[in-house]
Amino acid sequence: AENTFRCVTCTAPVNIAVIKYWGKRDEKLILPTNSSLSVTLGQDELRAKTSVAVSKDYTQDRMWLNGKEQSVNTPRIQNVLKETRKRLSDSQNETELLQNVHIVSENNFPTAAGLASSAAGYACLVYSLSQLYGVKGEISDIARLLLSCRQGSGSACRSIYGGFVAWNMGELEDGSDSYAVQVAPEAHWPEMRTLILVVNDQKKDVGSTEGMQTTIETSDLMKHRVTIMDRRMEAMTEAIKKRDFPTFGKLTMQDSNQLHAVCLDTYPPIFYMTDVSRQVIRLVHAINDIYEEVKVAYTFDAGPNACLYLLEEDVPRVLSLVQHFFPPSQDKGEKFVTGLSVPEVPV
Ligand code: PMV
Repeated sequence: AENTFRCVTCTAPVNIAVIKYWGKRDEKLILPTNSSLSVTLGQDELRAKTSVAVSKDYTQDRMWLNGKEQSVNTPRIQNVLKETRKRLSDSQNETELLQNVHIVSENNFPTAAGLASSAAGYACLVYSLSQLYGVKGEISDIARLLLSCRQGSGSACRSIYGGFVAWNMGELEDGSDSYAVQVAPEAHWPEMRTLILVVNDQKKDVGSTEGMQTTIETSDLMKHRVTIMDRRMEAMTEAIKKRDFPTFGKLTMQDSNQLHAVCLDTYPPIFYMTDVSRQVIRLVHAINDIYEEVKVAYTFDAGPNACLYLLEEDVPRVLSLVQHFFPPSQDKGEKFVTGLSVPEVPV
């Protein structure tokens, strides 16, 4: 008899950009105004986990996120399903193609708090579906093609690979040369560590999709930013290839600062960082001043939470300083970092 039920479970880790994607040149195809580069965290740390199942007994497509049923009738979900099913049409599982799918997804970290939850979630969904349906070939562009939707996550394409991953913006109008490539595997720089400081786990006010579009429309500083990004990408790629932490760290901080500067230059301005975020920045610079070298770097996405990059040998002293200045809040329990467990930083 035909299979009546098939299920695939995948996990996709969060990726945190060191050269940020901010701005689309084509909103429908989700084509960026600049290339970006990120580090994918380990599978045991911040990650999305998604199970997808097909059965001829399912009467409709359904989806649950963190235990709550969500509508599948959003443009981005529909696009993912459409794209993967389209690709399936030339493989052999025709019967499964026609079946409905159930999607169950959960994150082990705060969702939509500027910790790249949608990137991991969509990467995971696309990957699970591709495994379920047996899609072959380039899949990172499906994640990017979460098109025509205001909240689509372009950066999801970078979570498809581990290690150091670039999303090259490409030049073509149809976006066929805009996809993620691995710059170096995780094993290339095994001493690299990240500490995630959860300043606030509330949902952010301005979503990245809306925020970046307003920046493109209103910020003059953004016009300057796009002209320097190719050079920045080259310098960052080289720093990673050479495992040159001081250069890697400085570029990471400069790029984060510029992202938040273009947010401030957006009209009306967008504030993602809080006073606590800025205190973390001061602390990082104070640590680097003491060592007269960049030992630790911060980066902030569309939210107040800090991601610190550092080398394994520096984790104990940086961590003790962070914990000294930002004592863990008693009531909220522990939060996470790669390879370590770090108490949450109170607001
Ligand atoms: O992919 P989106 O639409 O969730 O936007 C991500 C934007 C940043 O996280 C701020 C930067 C990045 O490159 O990840």
